[in-house]
Amino acid sequence: MKGIILAGGKGTRLYPMTKAVSKQLLPIYDKPLIYYPLSMLLLAGIREILIISTPEDTPVYERLLGNGERIGVRIEYQVQDTPRGLADAFILGADFIGSDSVCLILGDNMFFGQDMSRTLWNAIAKIETNGGACIFGYPVKDARSFGVVEFDKTHKVMSIEEKPKEPKSNYAVPGLYFYDNRVVEIAKNVKPSARGEIEITAVNNEYLYLGELNVQLLGRGIAWLDTGSPEGMLKAAEFVEAVQSRQGFYISCIEEIAWRRKFITTEQLEAIGMELKMTDYGQYLLSLVEEAKKND
Ligand code: DAU
Repeated sequence: MKGIILAGGKGTRLYPMTKAVSKQLLPIYDKPLIYYPLSMLLLAGIREILIISTPEDTPVYERLLGNGERIGVRIEYQVQDTPRGLADAFILGADFIGSDSVCLILGDNMFFGQDMSRTLWNAIAKIETNGGACIFGYPVKDARSFGVVEFDKTHKVMSIEEKPKEPKSNYAVPGLYFYDNRVVEIAKNVKPSARGEIEITAVNNEYLYLGELNVQLLGRGIAWLDTGSPEGMLKAAEFVEAVQSRQGFYISCIEEIAWRRKFITTEQLEAIGMELKMTDYGQYLLSLVEEAKKND
């Protein structure tokens, strides 16, 4: 399975913060926002990754993450010249996807929780065994600004609606999607919505129509954090700080995950830690190395 991070868009809802800087490069406490979705792909064991962003921002992502070698993965880049919609990721990424299945994660979506790795692995296993699509439903107080799942009385999924004025449930669809290879053709056939975008929701409804959309409901054990407003970003940063300082474990530390998944060796992790040793982040990496050496 391949992974795509969609990290473009104009970020107008966060102006002036995002007038000169891509939203997904803004810090959430101690790391750029894109580290959080990137870490989900790493946790899932996905090592071929495409980052899609604007013509101005793509080189900045390249400066941040390079070709991925440092964390033992391969990262490619693709420019989206204008924000045509989320389903554009599969059209722009068609060559990269090739004949593979694909996971799309939005560059501004943050997840955290004990069950996250298992949730990701289960979704991949489903797609690789049976094909189809796997998306998630997450309970929110106000679902109006998201894709929303409509269920019938037996909890069967009836439709996904994009930003409904009157949501038919409080289950929002987070920006984390798994598809078989047909997604490329399906995306190519999506007609632009009333707001002029080729919507991921239309892709999901097509899989639903084919009887191949799996919607997994996420429970209280997983945090899906909102980064859509300055307040959301501040609260997300406070969440990261609170968990990290209490537990001593970092959230979405890409180098740690790459090391735990054995994409890089302890020596490679140590080299990165030494480079960053003037920061708490670097000291954290070095503490992992020390622990590993003790247990050897
Ligand atoms: O966050 C989950 C929600 O994401 C889903 O519940 C919705 O169904 C889905 O449509 C999407 O809604 P948003 O209103 O959050 O989408 P937005 O247009 O803000 O785009 C999400 C991210 O993708 C954002 O960081 C910008 C980036 N983007 C967006 C578009 C439309 C691109 O890189 N290219 C694009 O063409």
